[in-house]
Amino acid sequence: MAIPWWRDAVVYEIYVRSFADASGDGVGDLAGIRERLPYLRKLGVDAIWLTPFYPSPMADGGYDVADYRGVDPLFGSLADFEALVADAHEQGLKVIVDVVPNHSSDRHPWFEAALRGEGRDRYVFRSSPDLPNNWQSTFGGPAWTRVAGGQWYLHLFAPGQPDFNWRNPEVHAEFLDILRFWLDRGVDGFRIDVAMGLYKAEGLPDVDDQSFTAVSPVWGQPEVHDVYRAWRKLLDAFPGERMAVGEVWTDDPVDLARYVRPDELHQSFNFAWLQAPWSATAFRKVIDDTLATVPFATWVLSNHDVVRHRTRYETADAGTGLDRARAALVTMLALPGSAYLYQGEELGLPEVKDIPPEARQDPVFLQSEGKIPGRDGCRVPLPWSDSGASLGFAPDGIRPWLPQPPEFAALSVAAQTGDPGSTLEFYRRALACRRELVGSIPHTIQWLDSPEDALFFSRGSLICVLNCGLRPVPLPSHDRVVLASGHLPEDRLLPPDTAAWLLS
Ligand code: GLC
Repeated sequence: MAIPWWRDAVVYEIYVRSFADASGDGVGDLAGIRERLPYLRKLGVDAIWLTPFYPSPMADGGYDVADYRGVDPLFGSLADFEALVADAHEQGLKVIVDVVPNHSSDRHPWFEAALRGEGRDRYVFRSSPDLPNNWQSTFGGPAWTRVAGGQWYLHLFAPGQPDFNWRNPEVHAEFLDILRFWLDRGVDGFRIDVAMGLYKAEGLPDVDDQSFTAVSPVWGQPEVHDVYRAWRKLLDAFPGERMAVGEVWTDDPVDLARYVRPDELHQSFNFAWLQAPWSATAFRKVIDDTLATVPFATWVLSNHDVVRHRTRYETADAGTGLDRARAALVTMLALPGSAYLYQGEELGLPEVKDIPPEARQDPVFLQSEGKIPGRDGCRVPLPWSDSGASLGFAPDGIRPWLPQPPEFAALSVAAQTGDPGSTLEFYRRALACRRELVGSIPHTIQWLDSPEDALFFSRGSLICVLNCGLRPVPLPSHDRVVLASGHLPEDRLLPPDTAAWLLS
């Protein structure tokens, strides 16, 4: 079998609202992405994943979809989308779009009809004198809202995101049609939002724990796999290697593997990698679990829902977060499978912690009445240049939808381009190096003996070394160093918080 494009692809997540604003309203858009495709090509990624750009009242940044077959005017038009796909393909980039099947917006015509009493069976409505069960919204507060007439509807996220009833065949048919719509427009794949959702256990029993565990009445019902079998058939019926990657949150690698059986999804995100603490033992366990359970591994360090990894890895010693973030990238890019990057990590952007409360927009912040900061801190618009009202994110003089901190100027694309010590140039080197090597090394790894707190593994002639400990460790024997996340004294020692690729 020829190797499918997605198996080793480096996919770059574009949080559309925060990537680049061409229209001048302070919000990123499709035309802005189109203008920046040469940047992505030069960075060296294989594909882009676009977060939702569909018509939406933006109760959750667009993850509340009012029309699954359109483009919100905030982001452009369907013609802009088609032009973006055409340009991306011309530049050799694949395009993955988000599909949001667990819930719609409360402004979706189906939900508006449901409120009028028509077709309530497309959603999860219950009659009950009090809350129908104890389920909580992921964003805080009860997962139920009462409508005029007394019934309650279920929303596992914001009240503006009513959950579909996947036990209704009409919902199935509708989503197959939505997928067809975008496949006809040339998309190469889908990222499936809340892929372990969709079905809820019959009877909607109370739960003790609503975290994303494998076994729960709220998530991961067995019926969901039939949906992905049907979607796989549809994807396979289209020419080209169309694919799907699931956003599956679960605490069990065996459960995760169920989503990527040969007749289901092609990939699922490996959140265990993202959740692992800075520890060689923890990383090694995730690598072993992953390679033992899934046929096509993926690796991810950051996305639009989590604290940026530079900040997650930060300790009391200034500078460590970035050193570790660079080392984690070197390690991740050496592993077999595909890697998902999140916009701005190539600039070493930190989480922005001091966004003023009045500027925050994440429903997590709003629903928790400010108790939980939420996800705006990883969604701050990208700095492209080192001056101006939006640091080049928007046309001159326009302010971005979330304020950028002053330290973003020195981290901008303009400030880092051409500086060999910058994180951006390091990402470019790392991706180029991977591109060169990936075709010629085996798709398996072998562990090599290493000191405690370090990881050494090989893929054929490539050796990847990572030091998570506090002291430098000697490098294993090698011919030359091809990539390093930091300085290697005399090419002999691997300092703490550093990773490298060696050829033997
Ligand atoms: C996913 C998205 C997240 C969104 C949620 C509800 O987890 O990544 O941003 O809030 O689903 O759609």
